[in-house]
Amino acid sequence: MTQLLIGTIVESEYELAKEVVQQSFLTEAQSNGKEFELIGKIRKSLTYNAELEVVAKTESGKILGHAMMSEVTINSDEQSNTVLALAPVSVLPQYQNKGIGKALIEALEYRAYENGYIGVVVLGHSEYYRKLGYHIASDFEIYAPFEVPDENFMFKYLWDHPTKEIRGTVHYPEYFQ
Ligand SMILES: CC(C)(COP(=O)(O)OP(=O)(O)OC[C@H]1O[C@@H](n2cnc3c(N)ncnc32)[C@H](O)[C@@H]1OP(=O)(O)O)[C@@H](O)C(=O)NCCC(=O)NCCS
Repeated sequence: MTQLLIGTIVESEYELAKEVVQQSFLTEAQSNGKEFELIGKIRKSLTYNAELEVVAKTESGKILGHAMMSEVTINSDEQSNTVLALAPVSVLPQYQNKGIGKALIEALEYRAYENGYIGVVVLGHSEYYRKLGYHIASDFEIYAPFEVPDENFMFKYLWDHPTKEIRGTVHYPEYFQ
């Protein structure tokens, strides 16, 4: 494959990114077909940070993948902490299994770390995210606010030595419903 560029999305790429997201999720059994609507709602949210929305493209500008992170909180009786949710992640079917998803996620994690975020929560394929350093969230006493198989709800600390341990139930903004 030609060189892959990972960069912050710009508004002129929104339409192309939409097609990539829609095509990527076409064959995904767990898809509700509304991933692109979620992206639009996150973009309109008060805490949206464009640095946390990235596309993977070829040198000629063809978009092959898209990923984003956005703020959620993890709450318990004792504490409330802001972390990031990774969602959605999309790679065009014909370009999957070439490391593009991994490159997108690692770019976002680096940006998140640079922005001072402590951790990332993700709902998805456990085998895939385990390879990227995510662990079953309940092992950290972090829980989903809905019914989900334990192994599909995962968390990763972005810092090797986090200054605080986060525990509680994840609270998603309304637009995730
Ligand atoms: C999931 C997705 C983003 C992964 O992107 P990708 O570019 O294909 O993945 P990468 O090339 O970075 O990673 C490939 C590795 O992950 C594994 N992998 C890919 N998809 C997987 C899946 N659904 N379950 C388990 N492992 C998976 C591959 O076997 C490969 O493993 P290896 O490195 O040991 O060979 C992509 O397949 C996709 O867009 N799928 C449809 C939409 C979707 O499901 N999004 C994620 C929602 S959680």
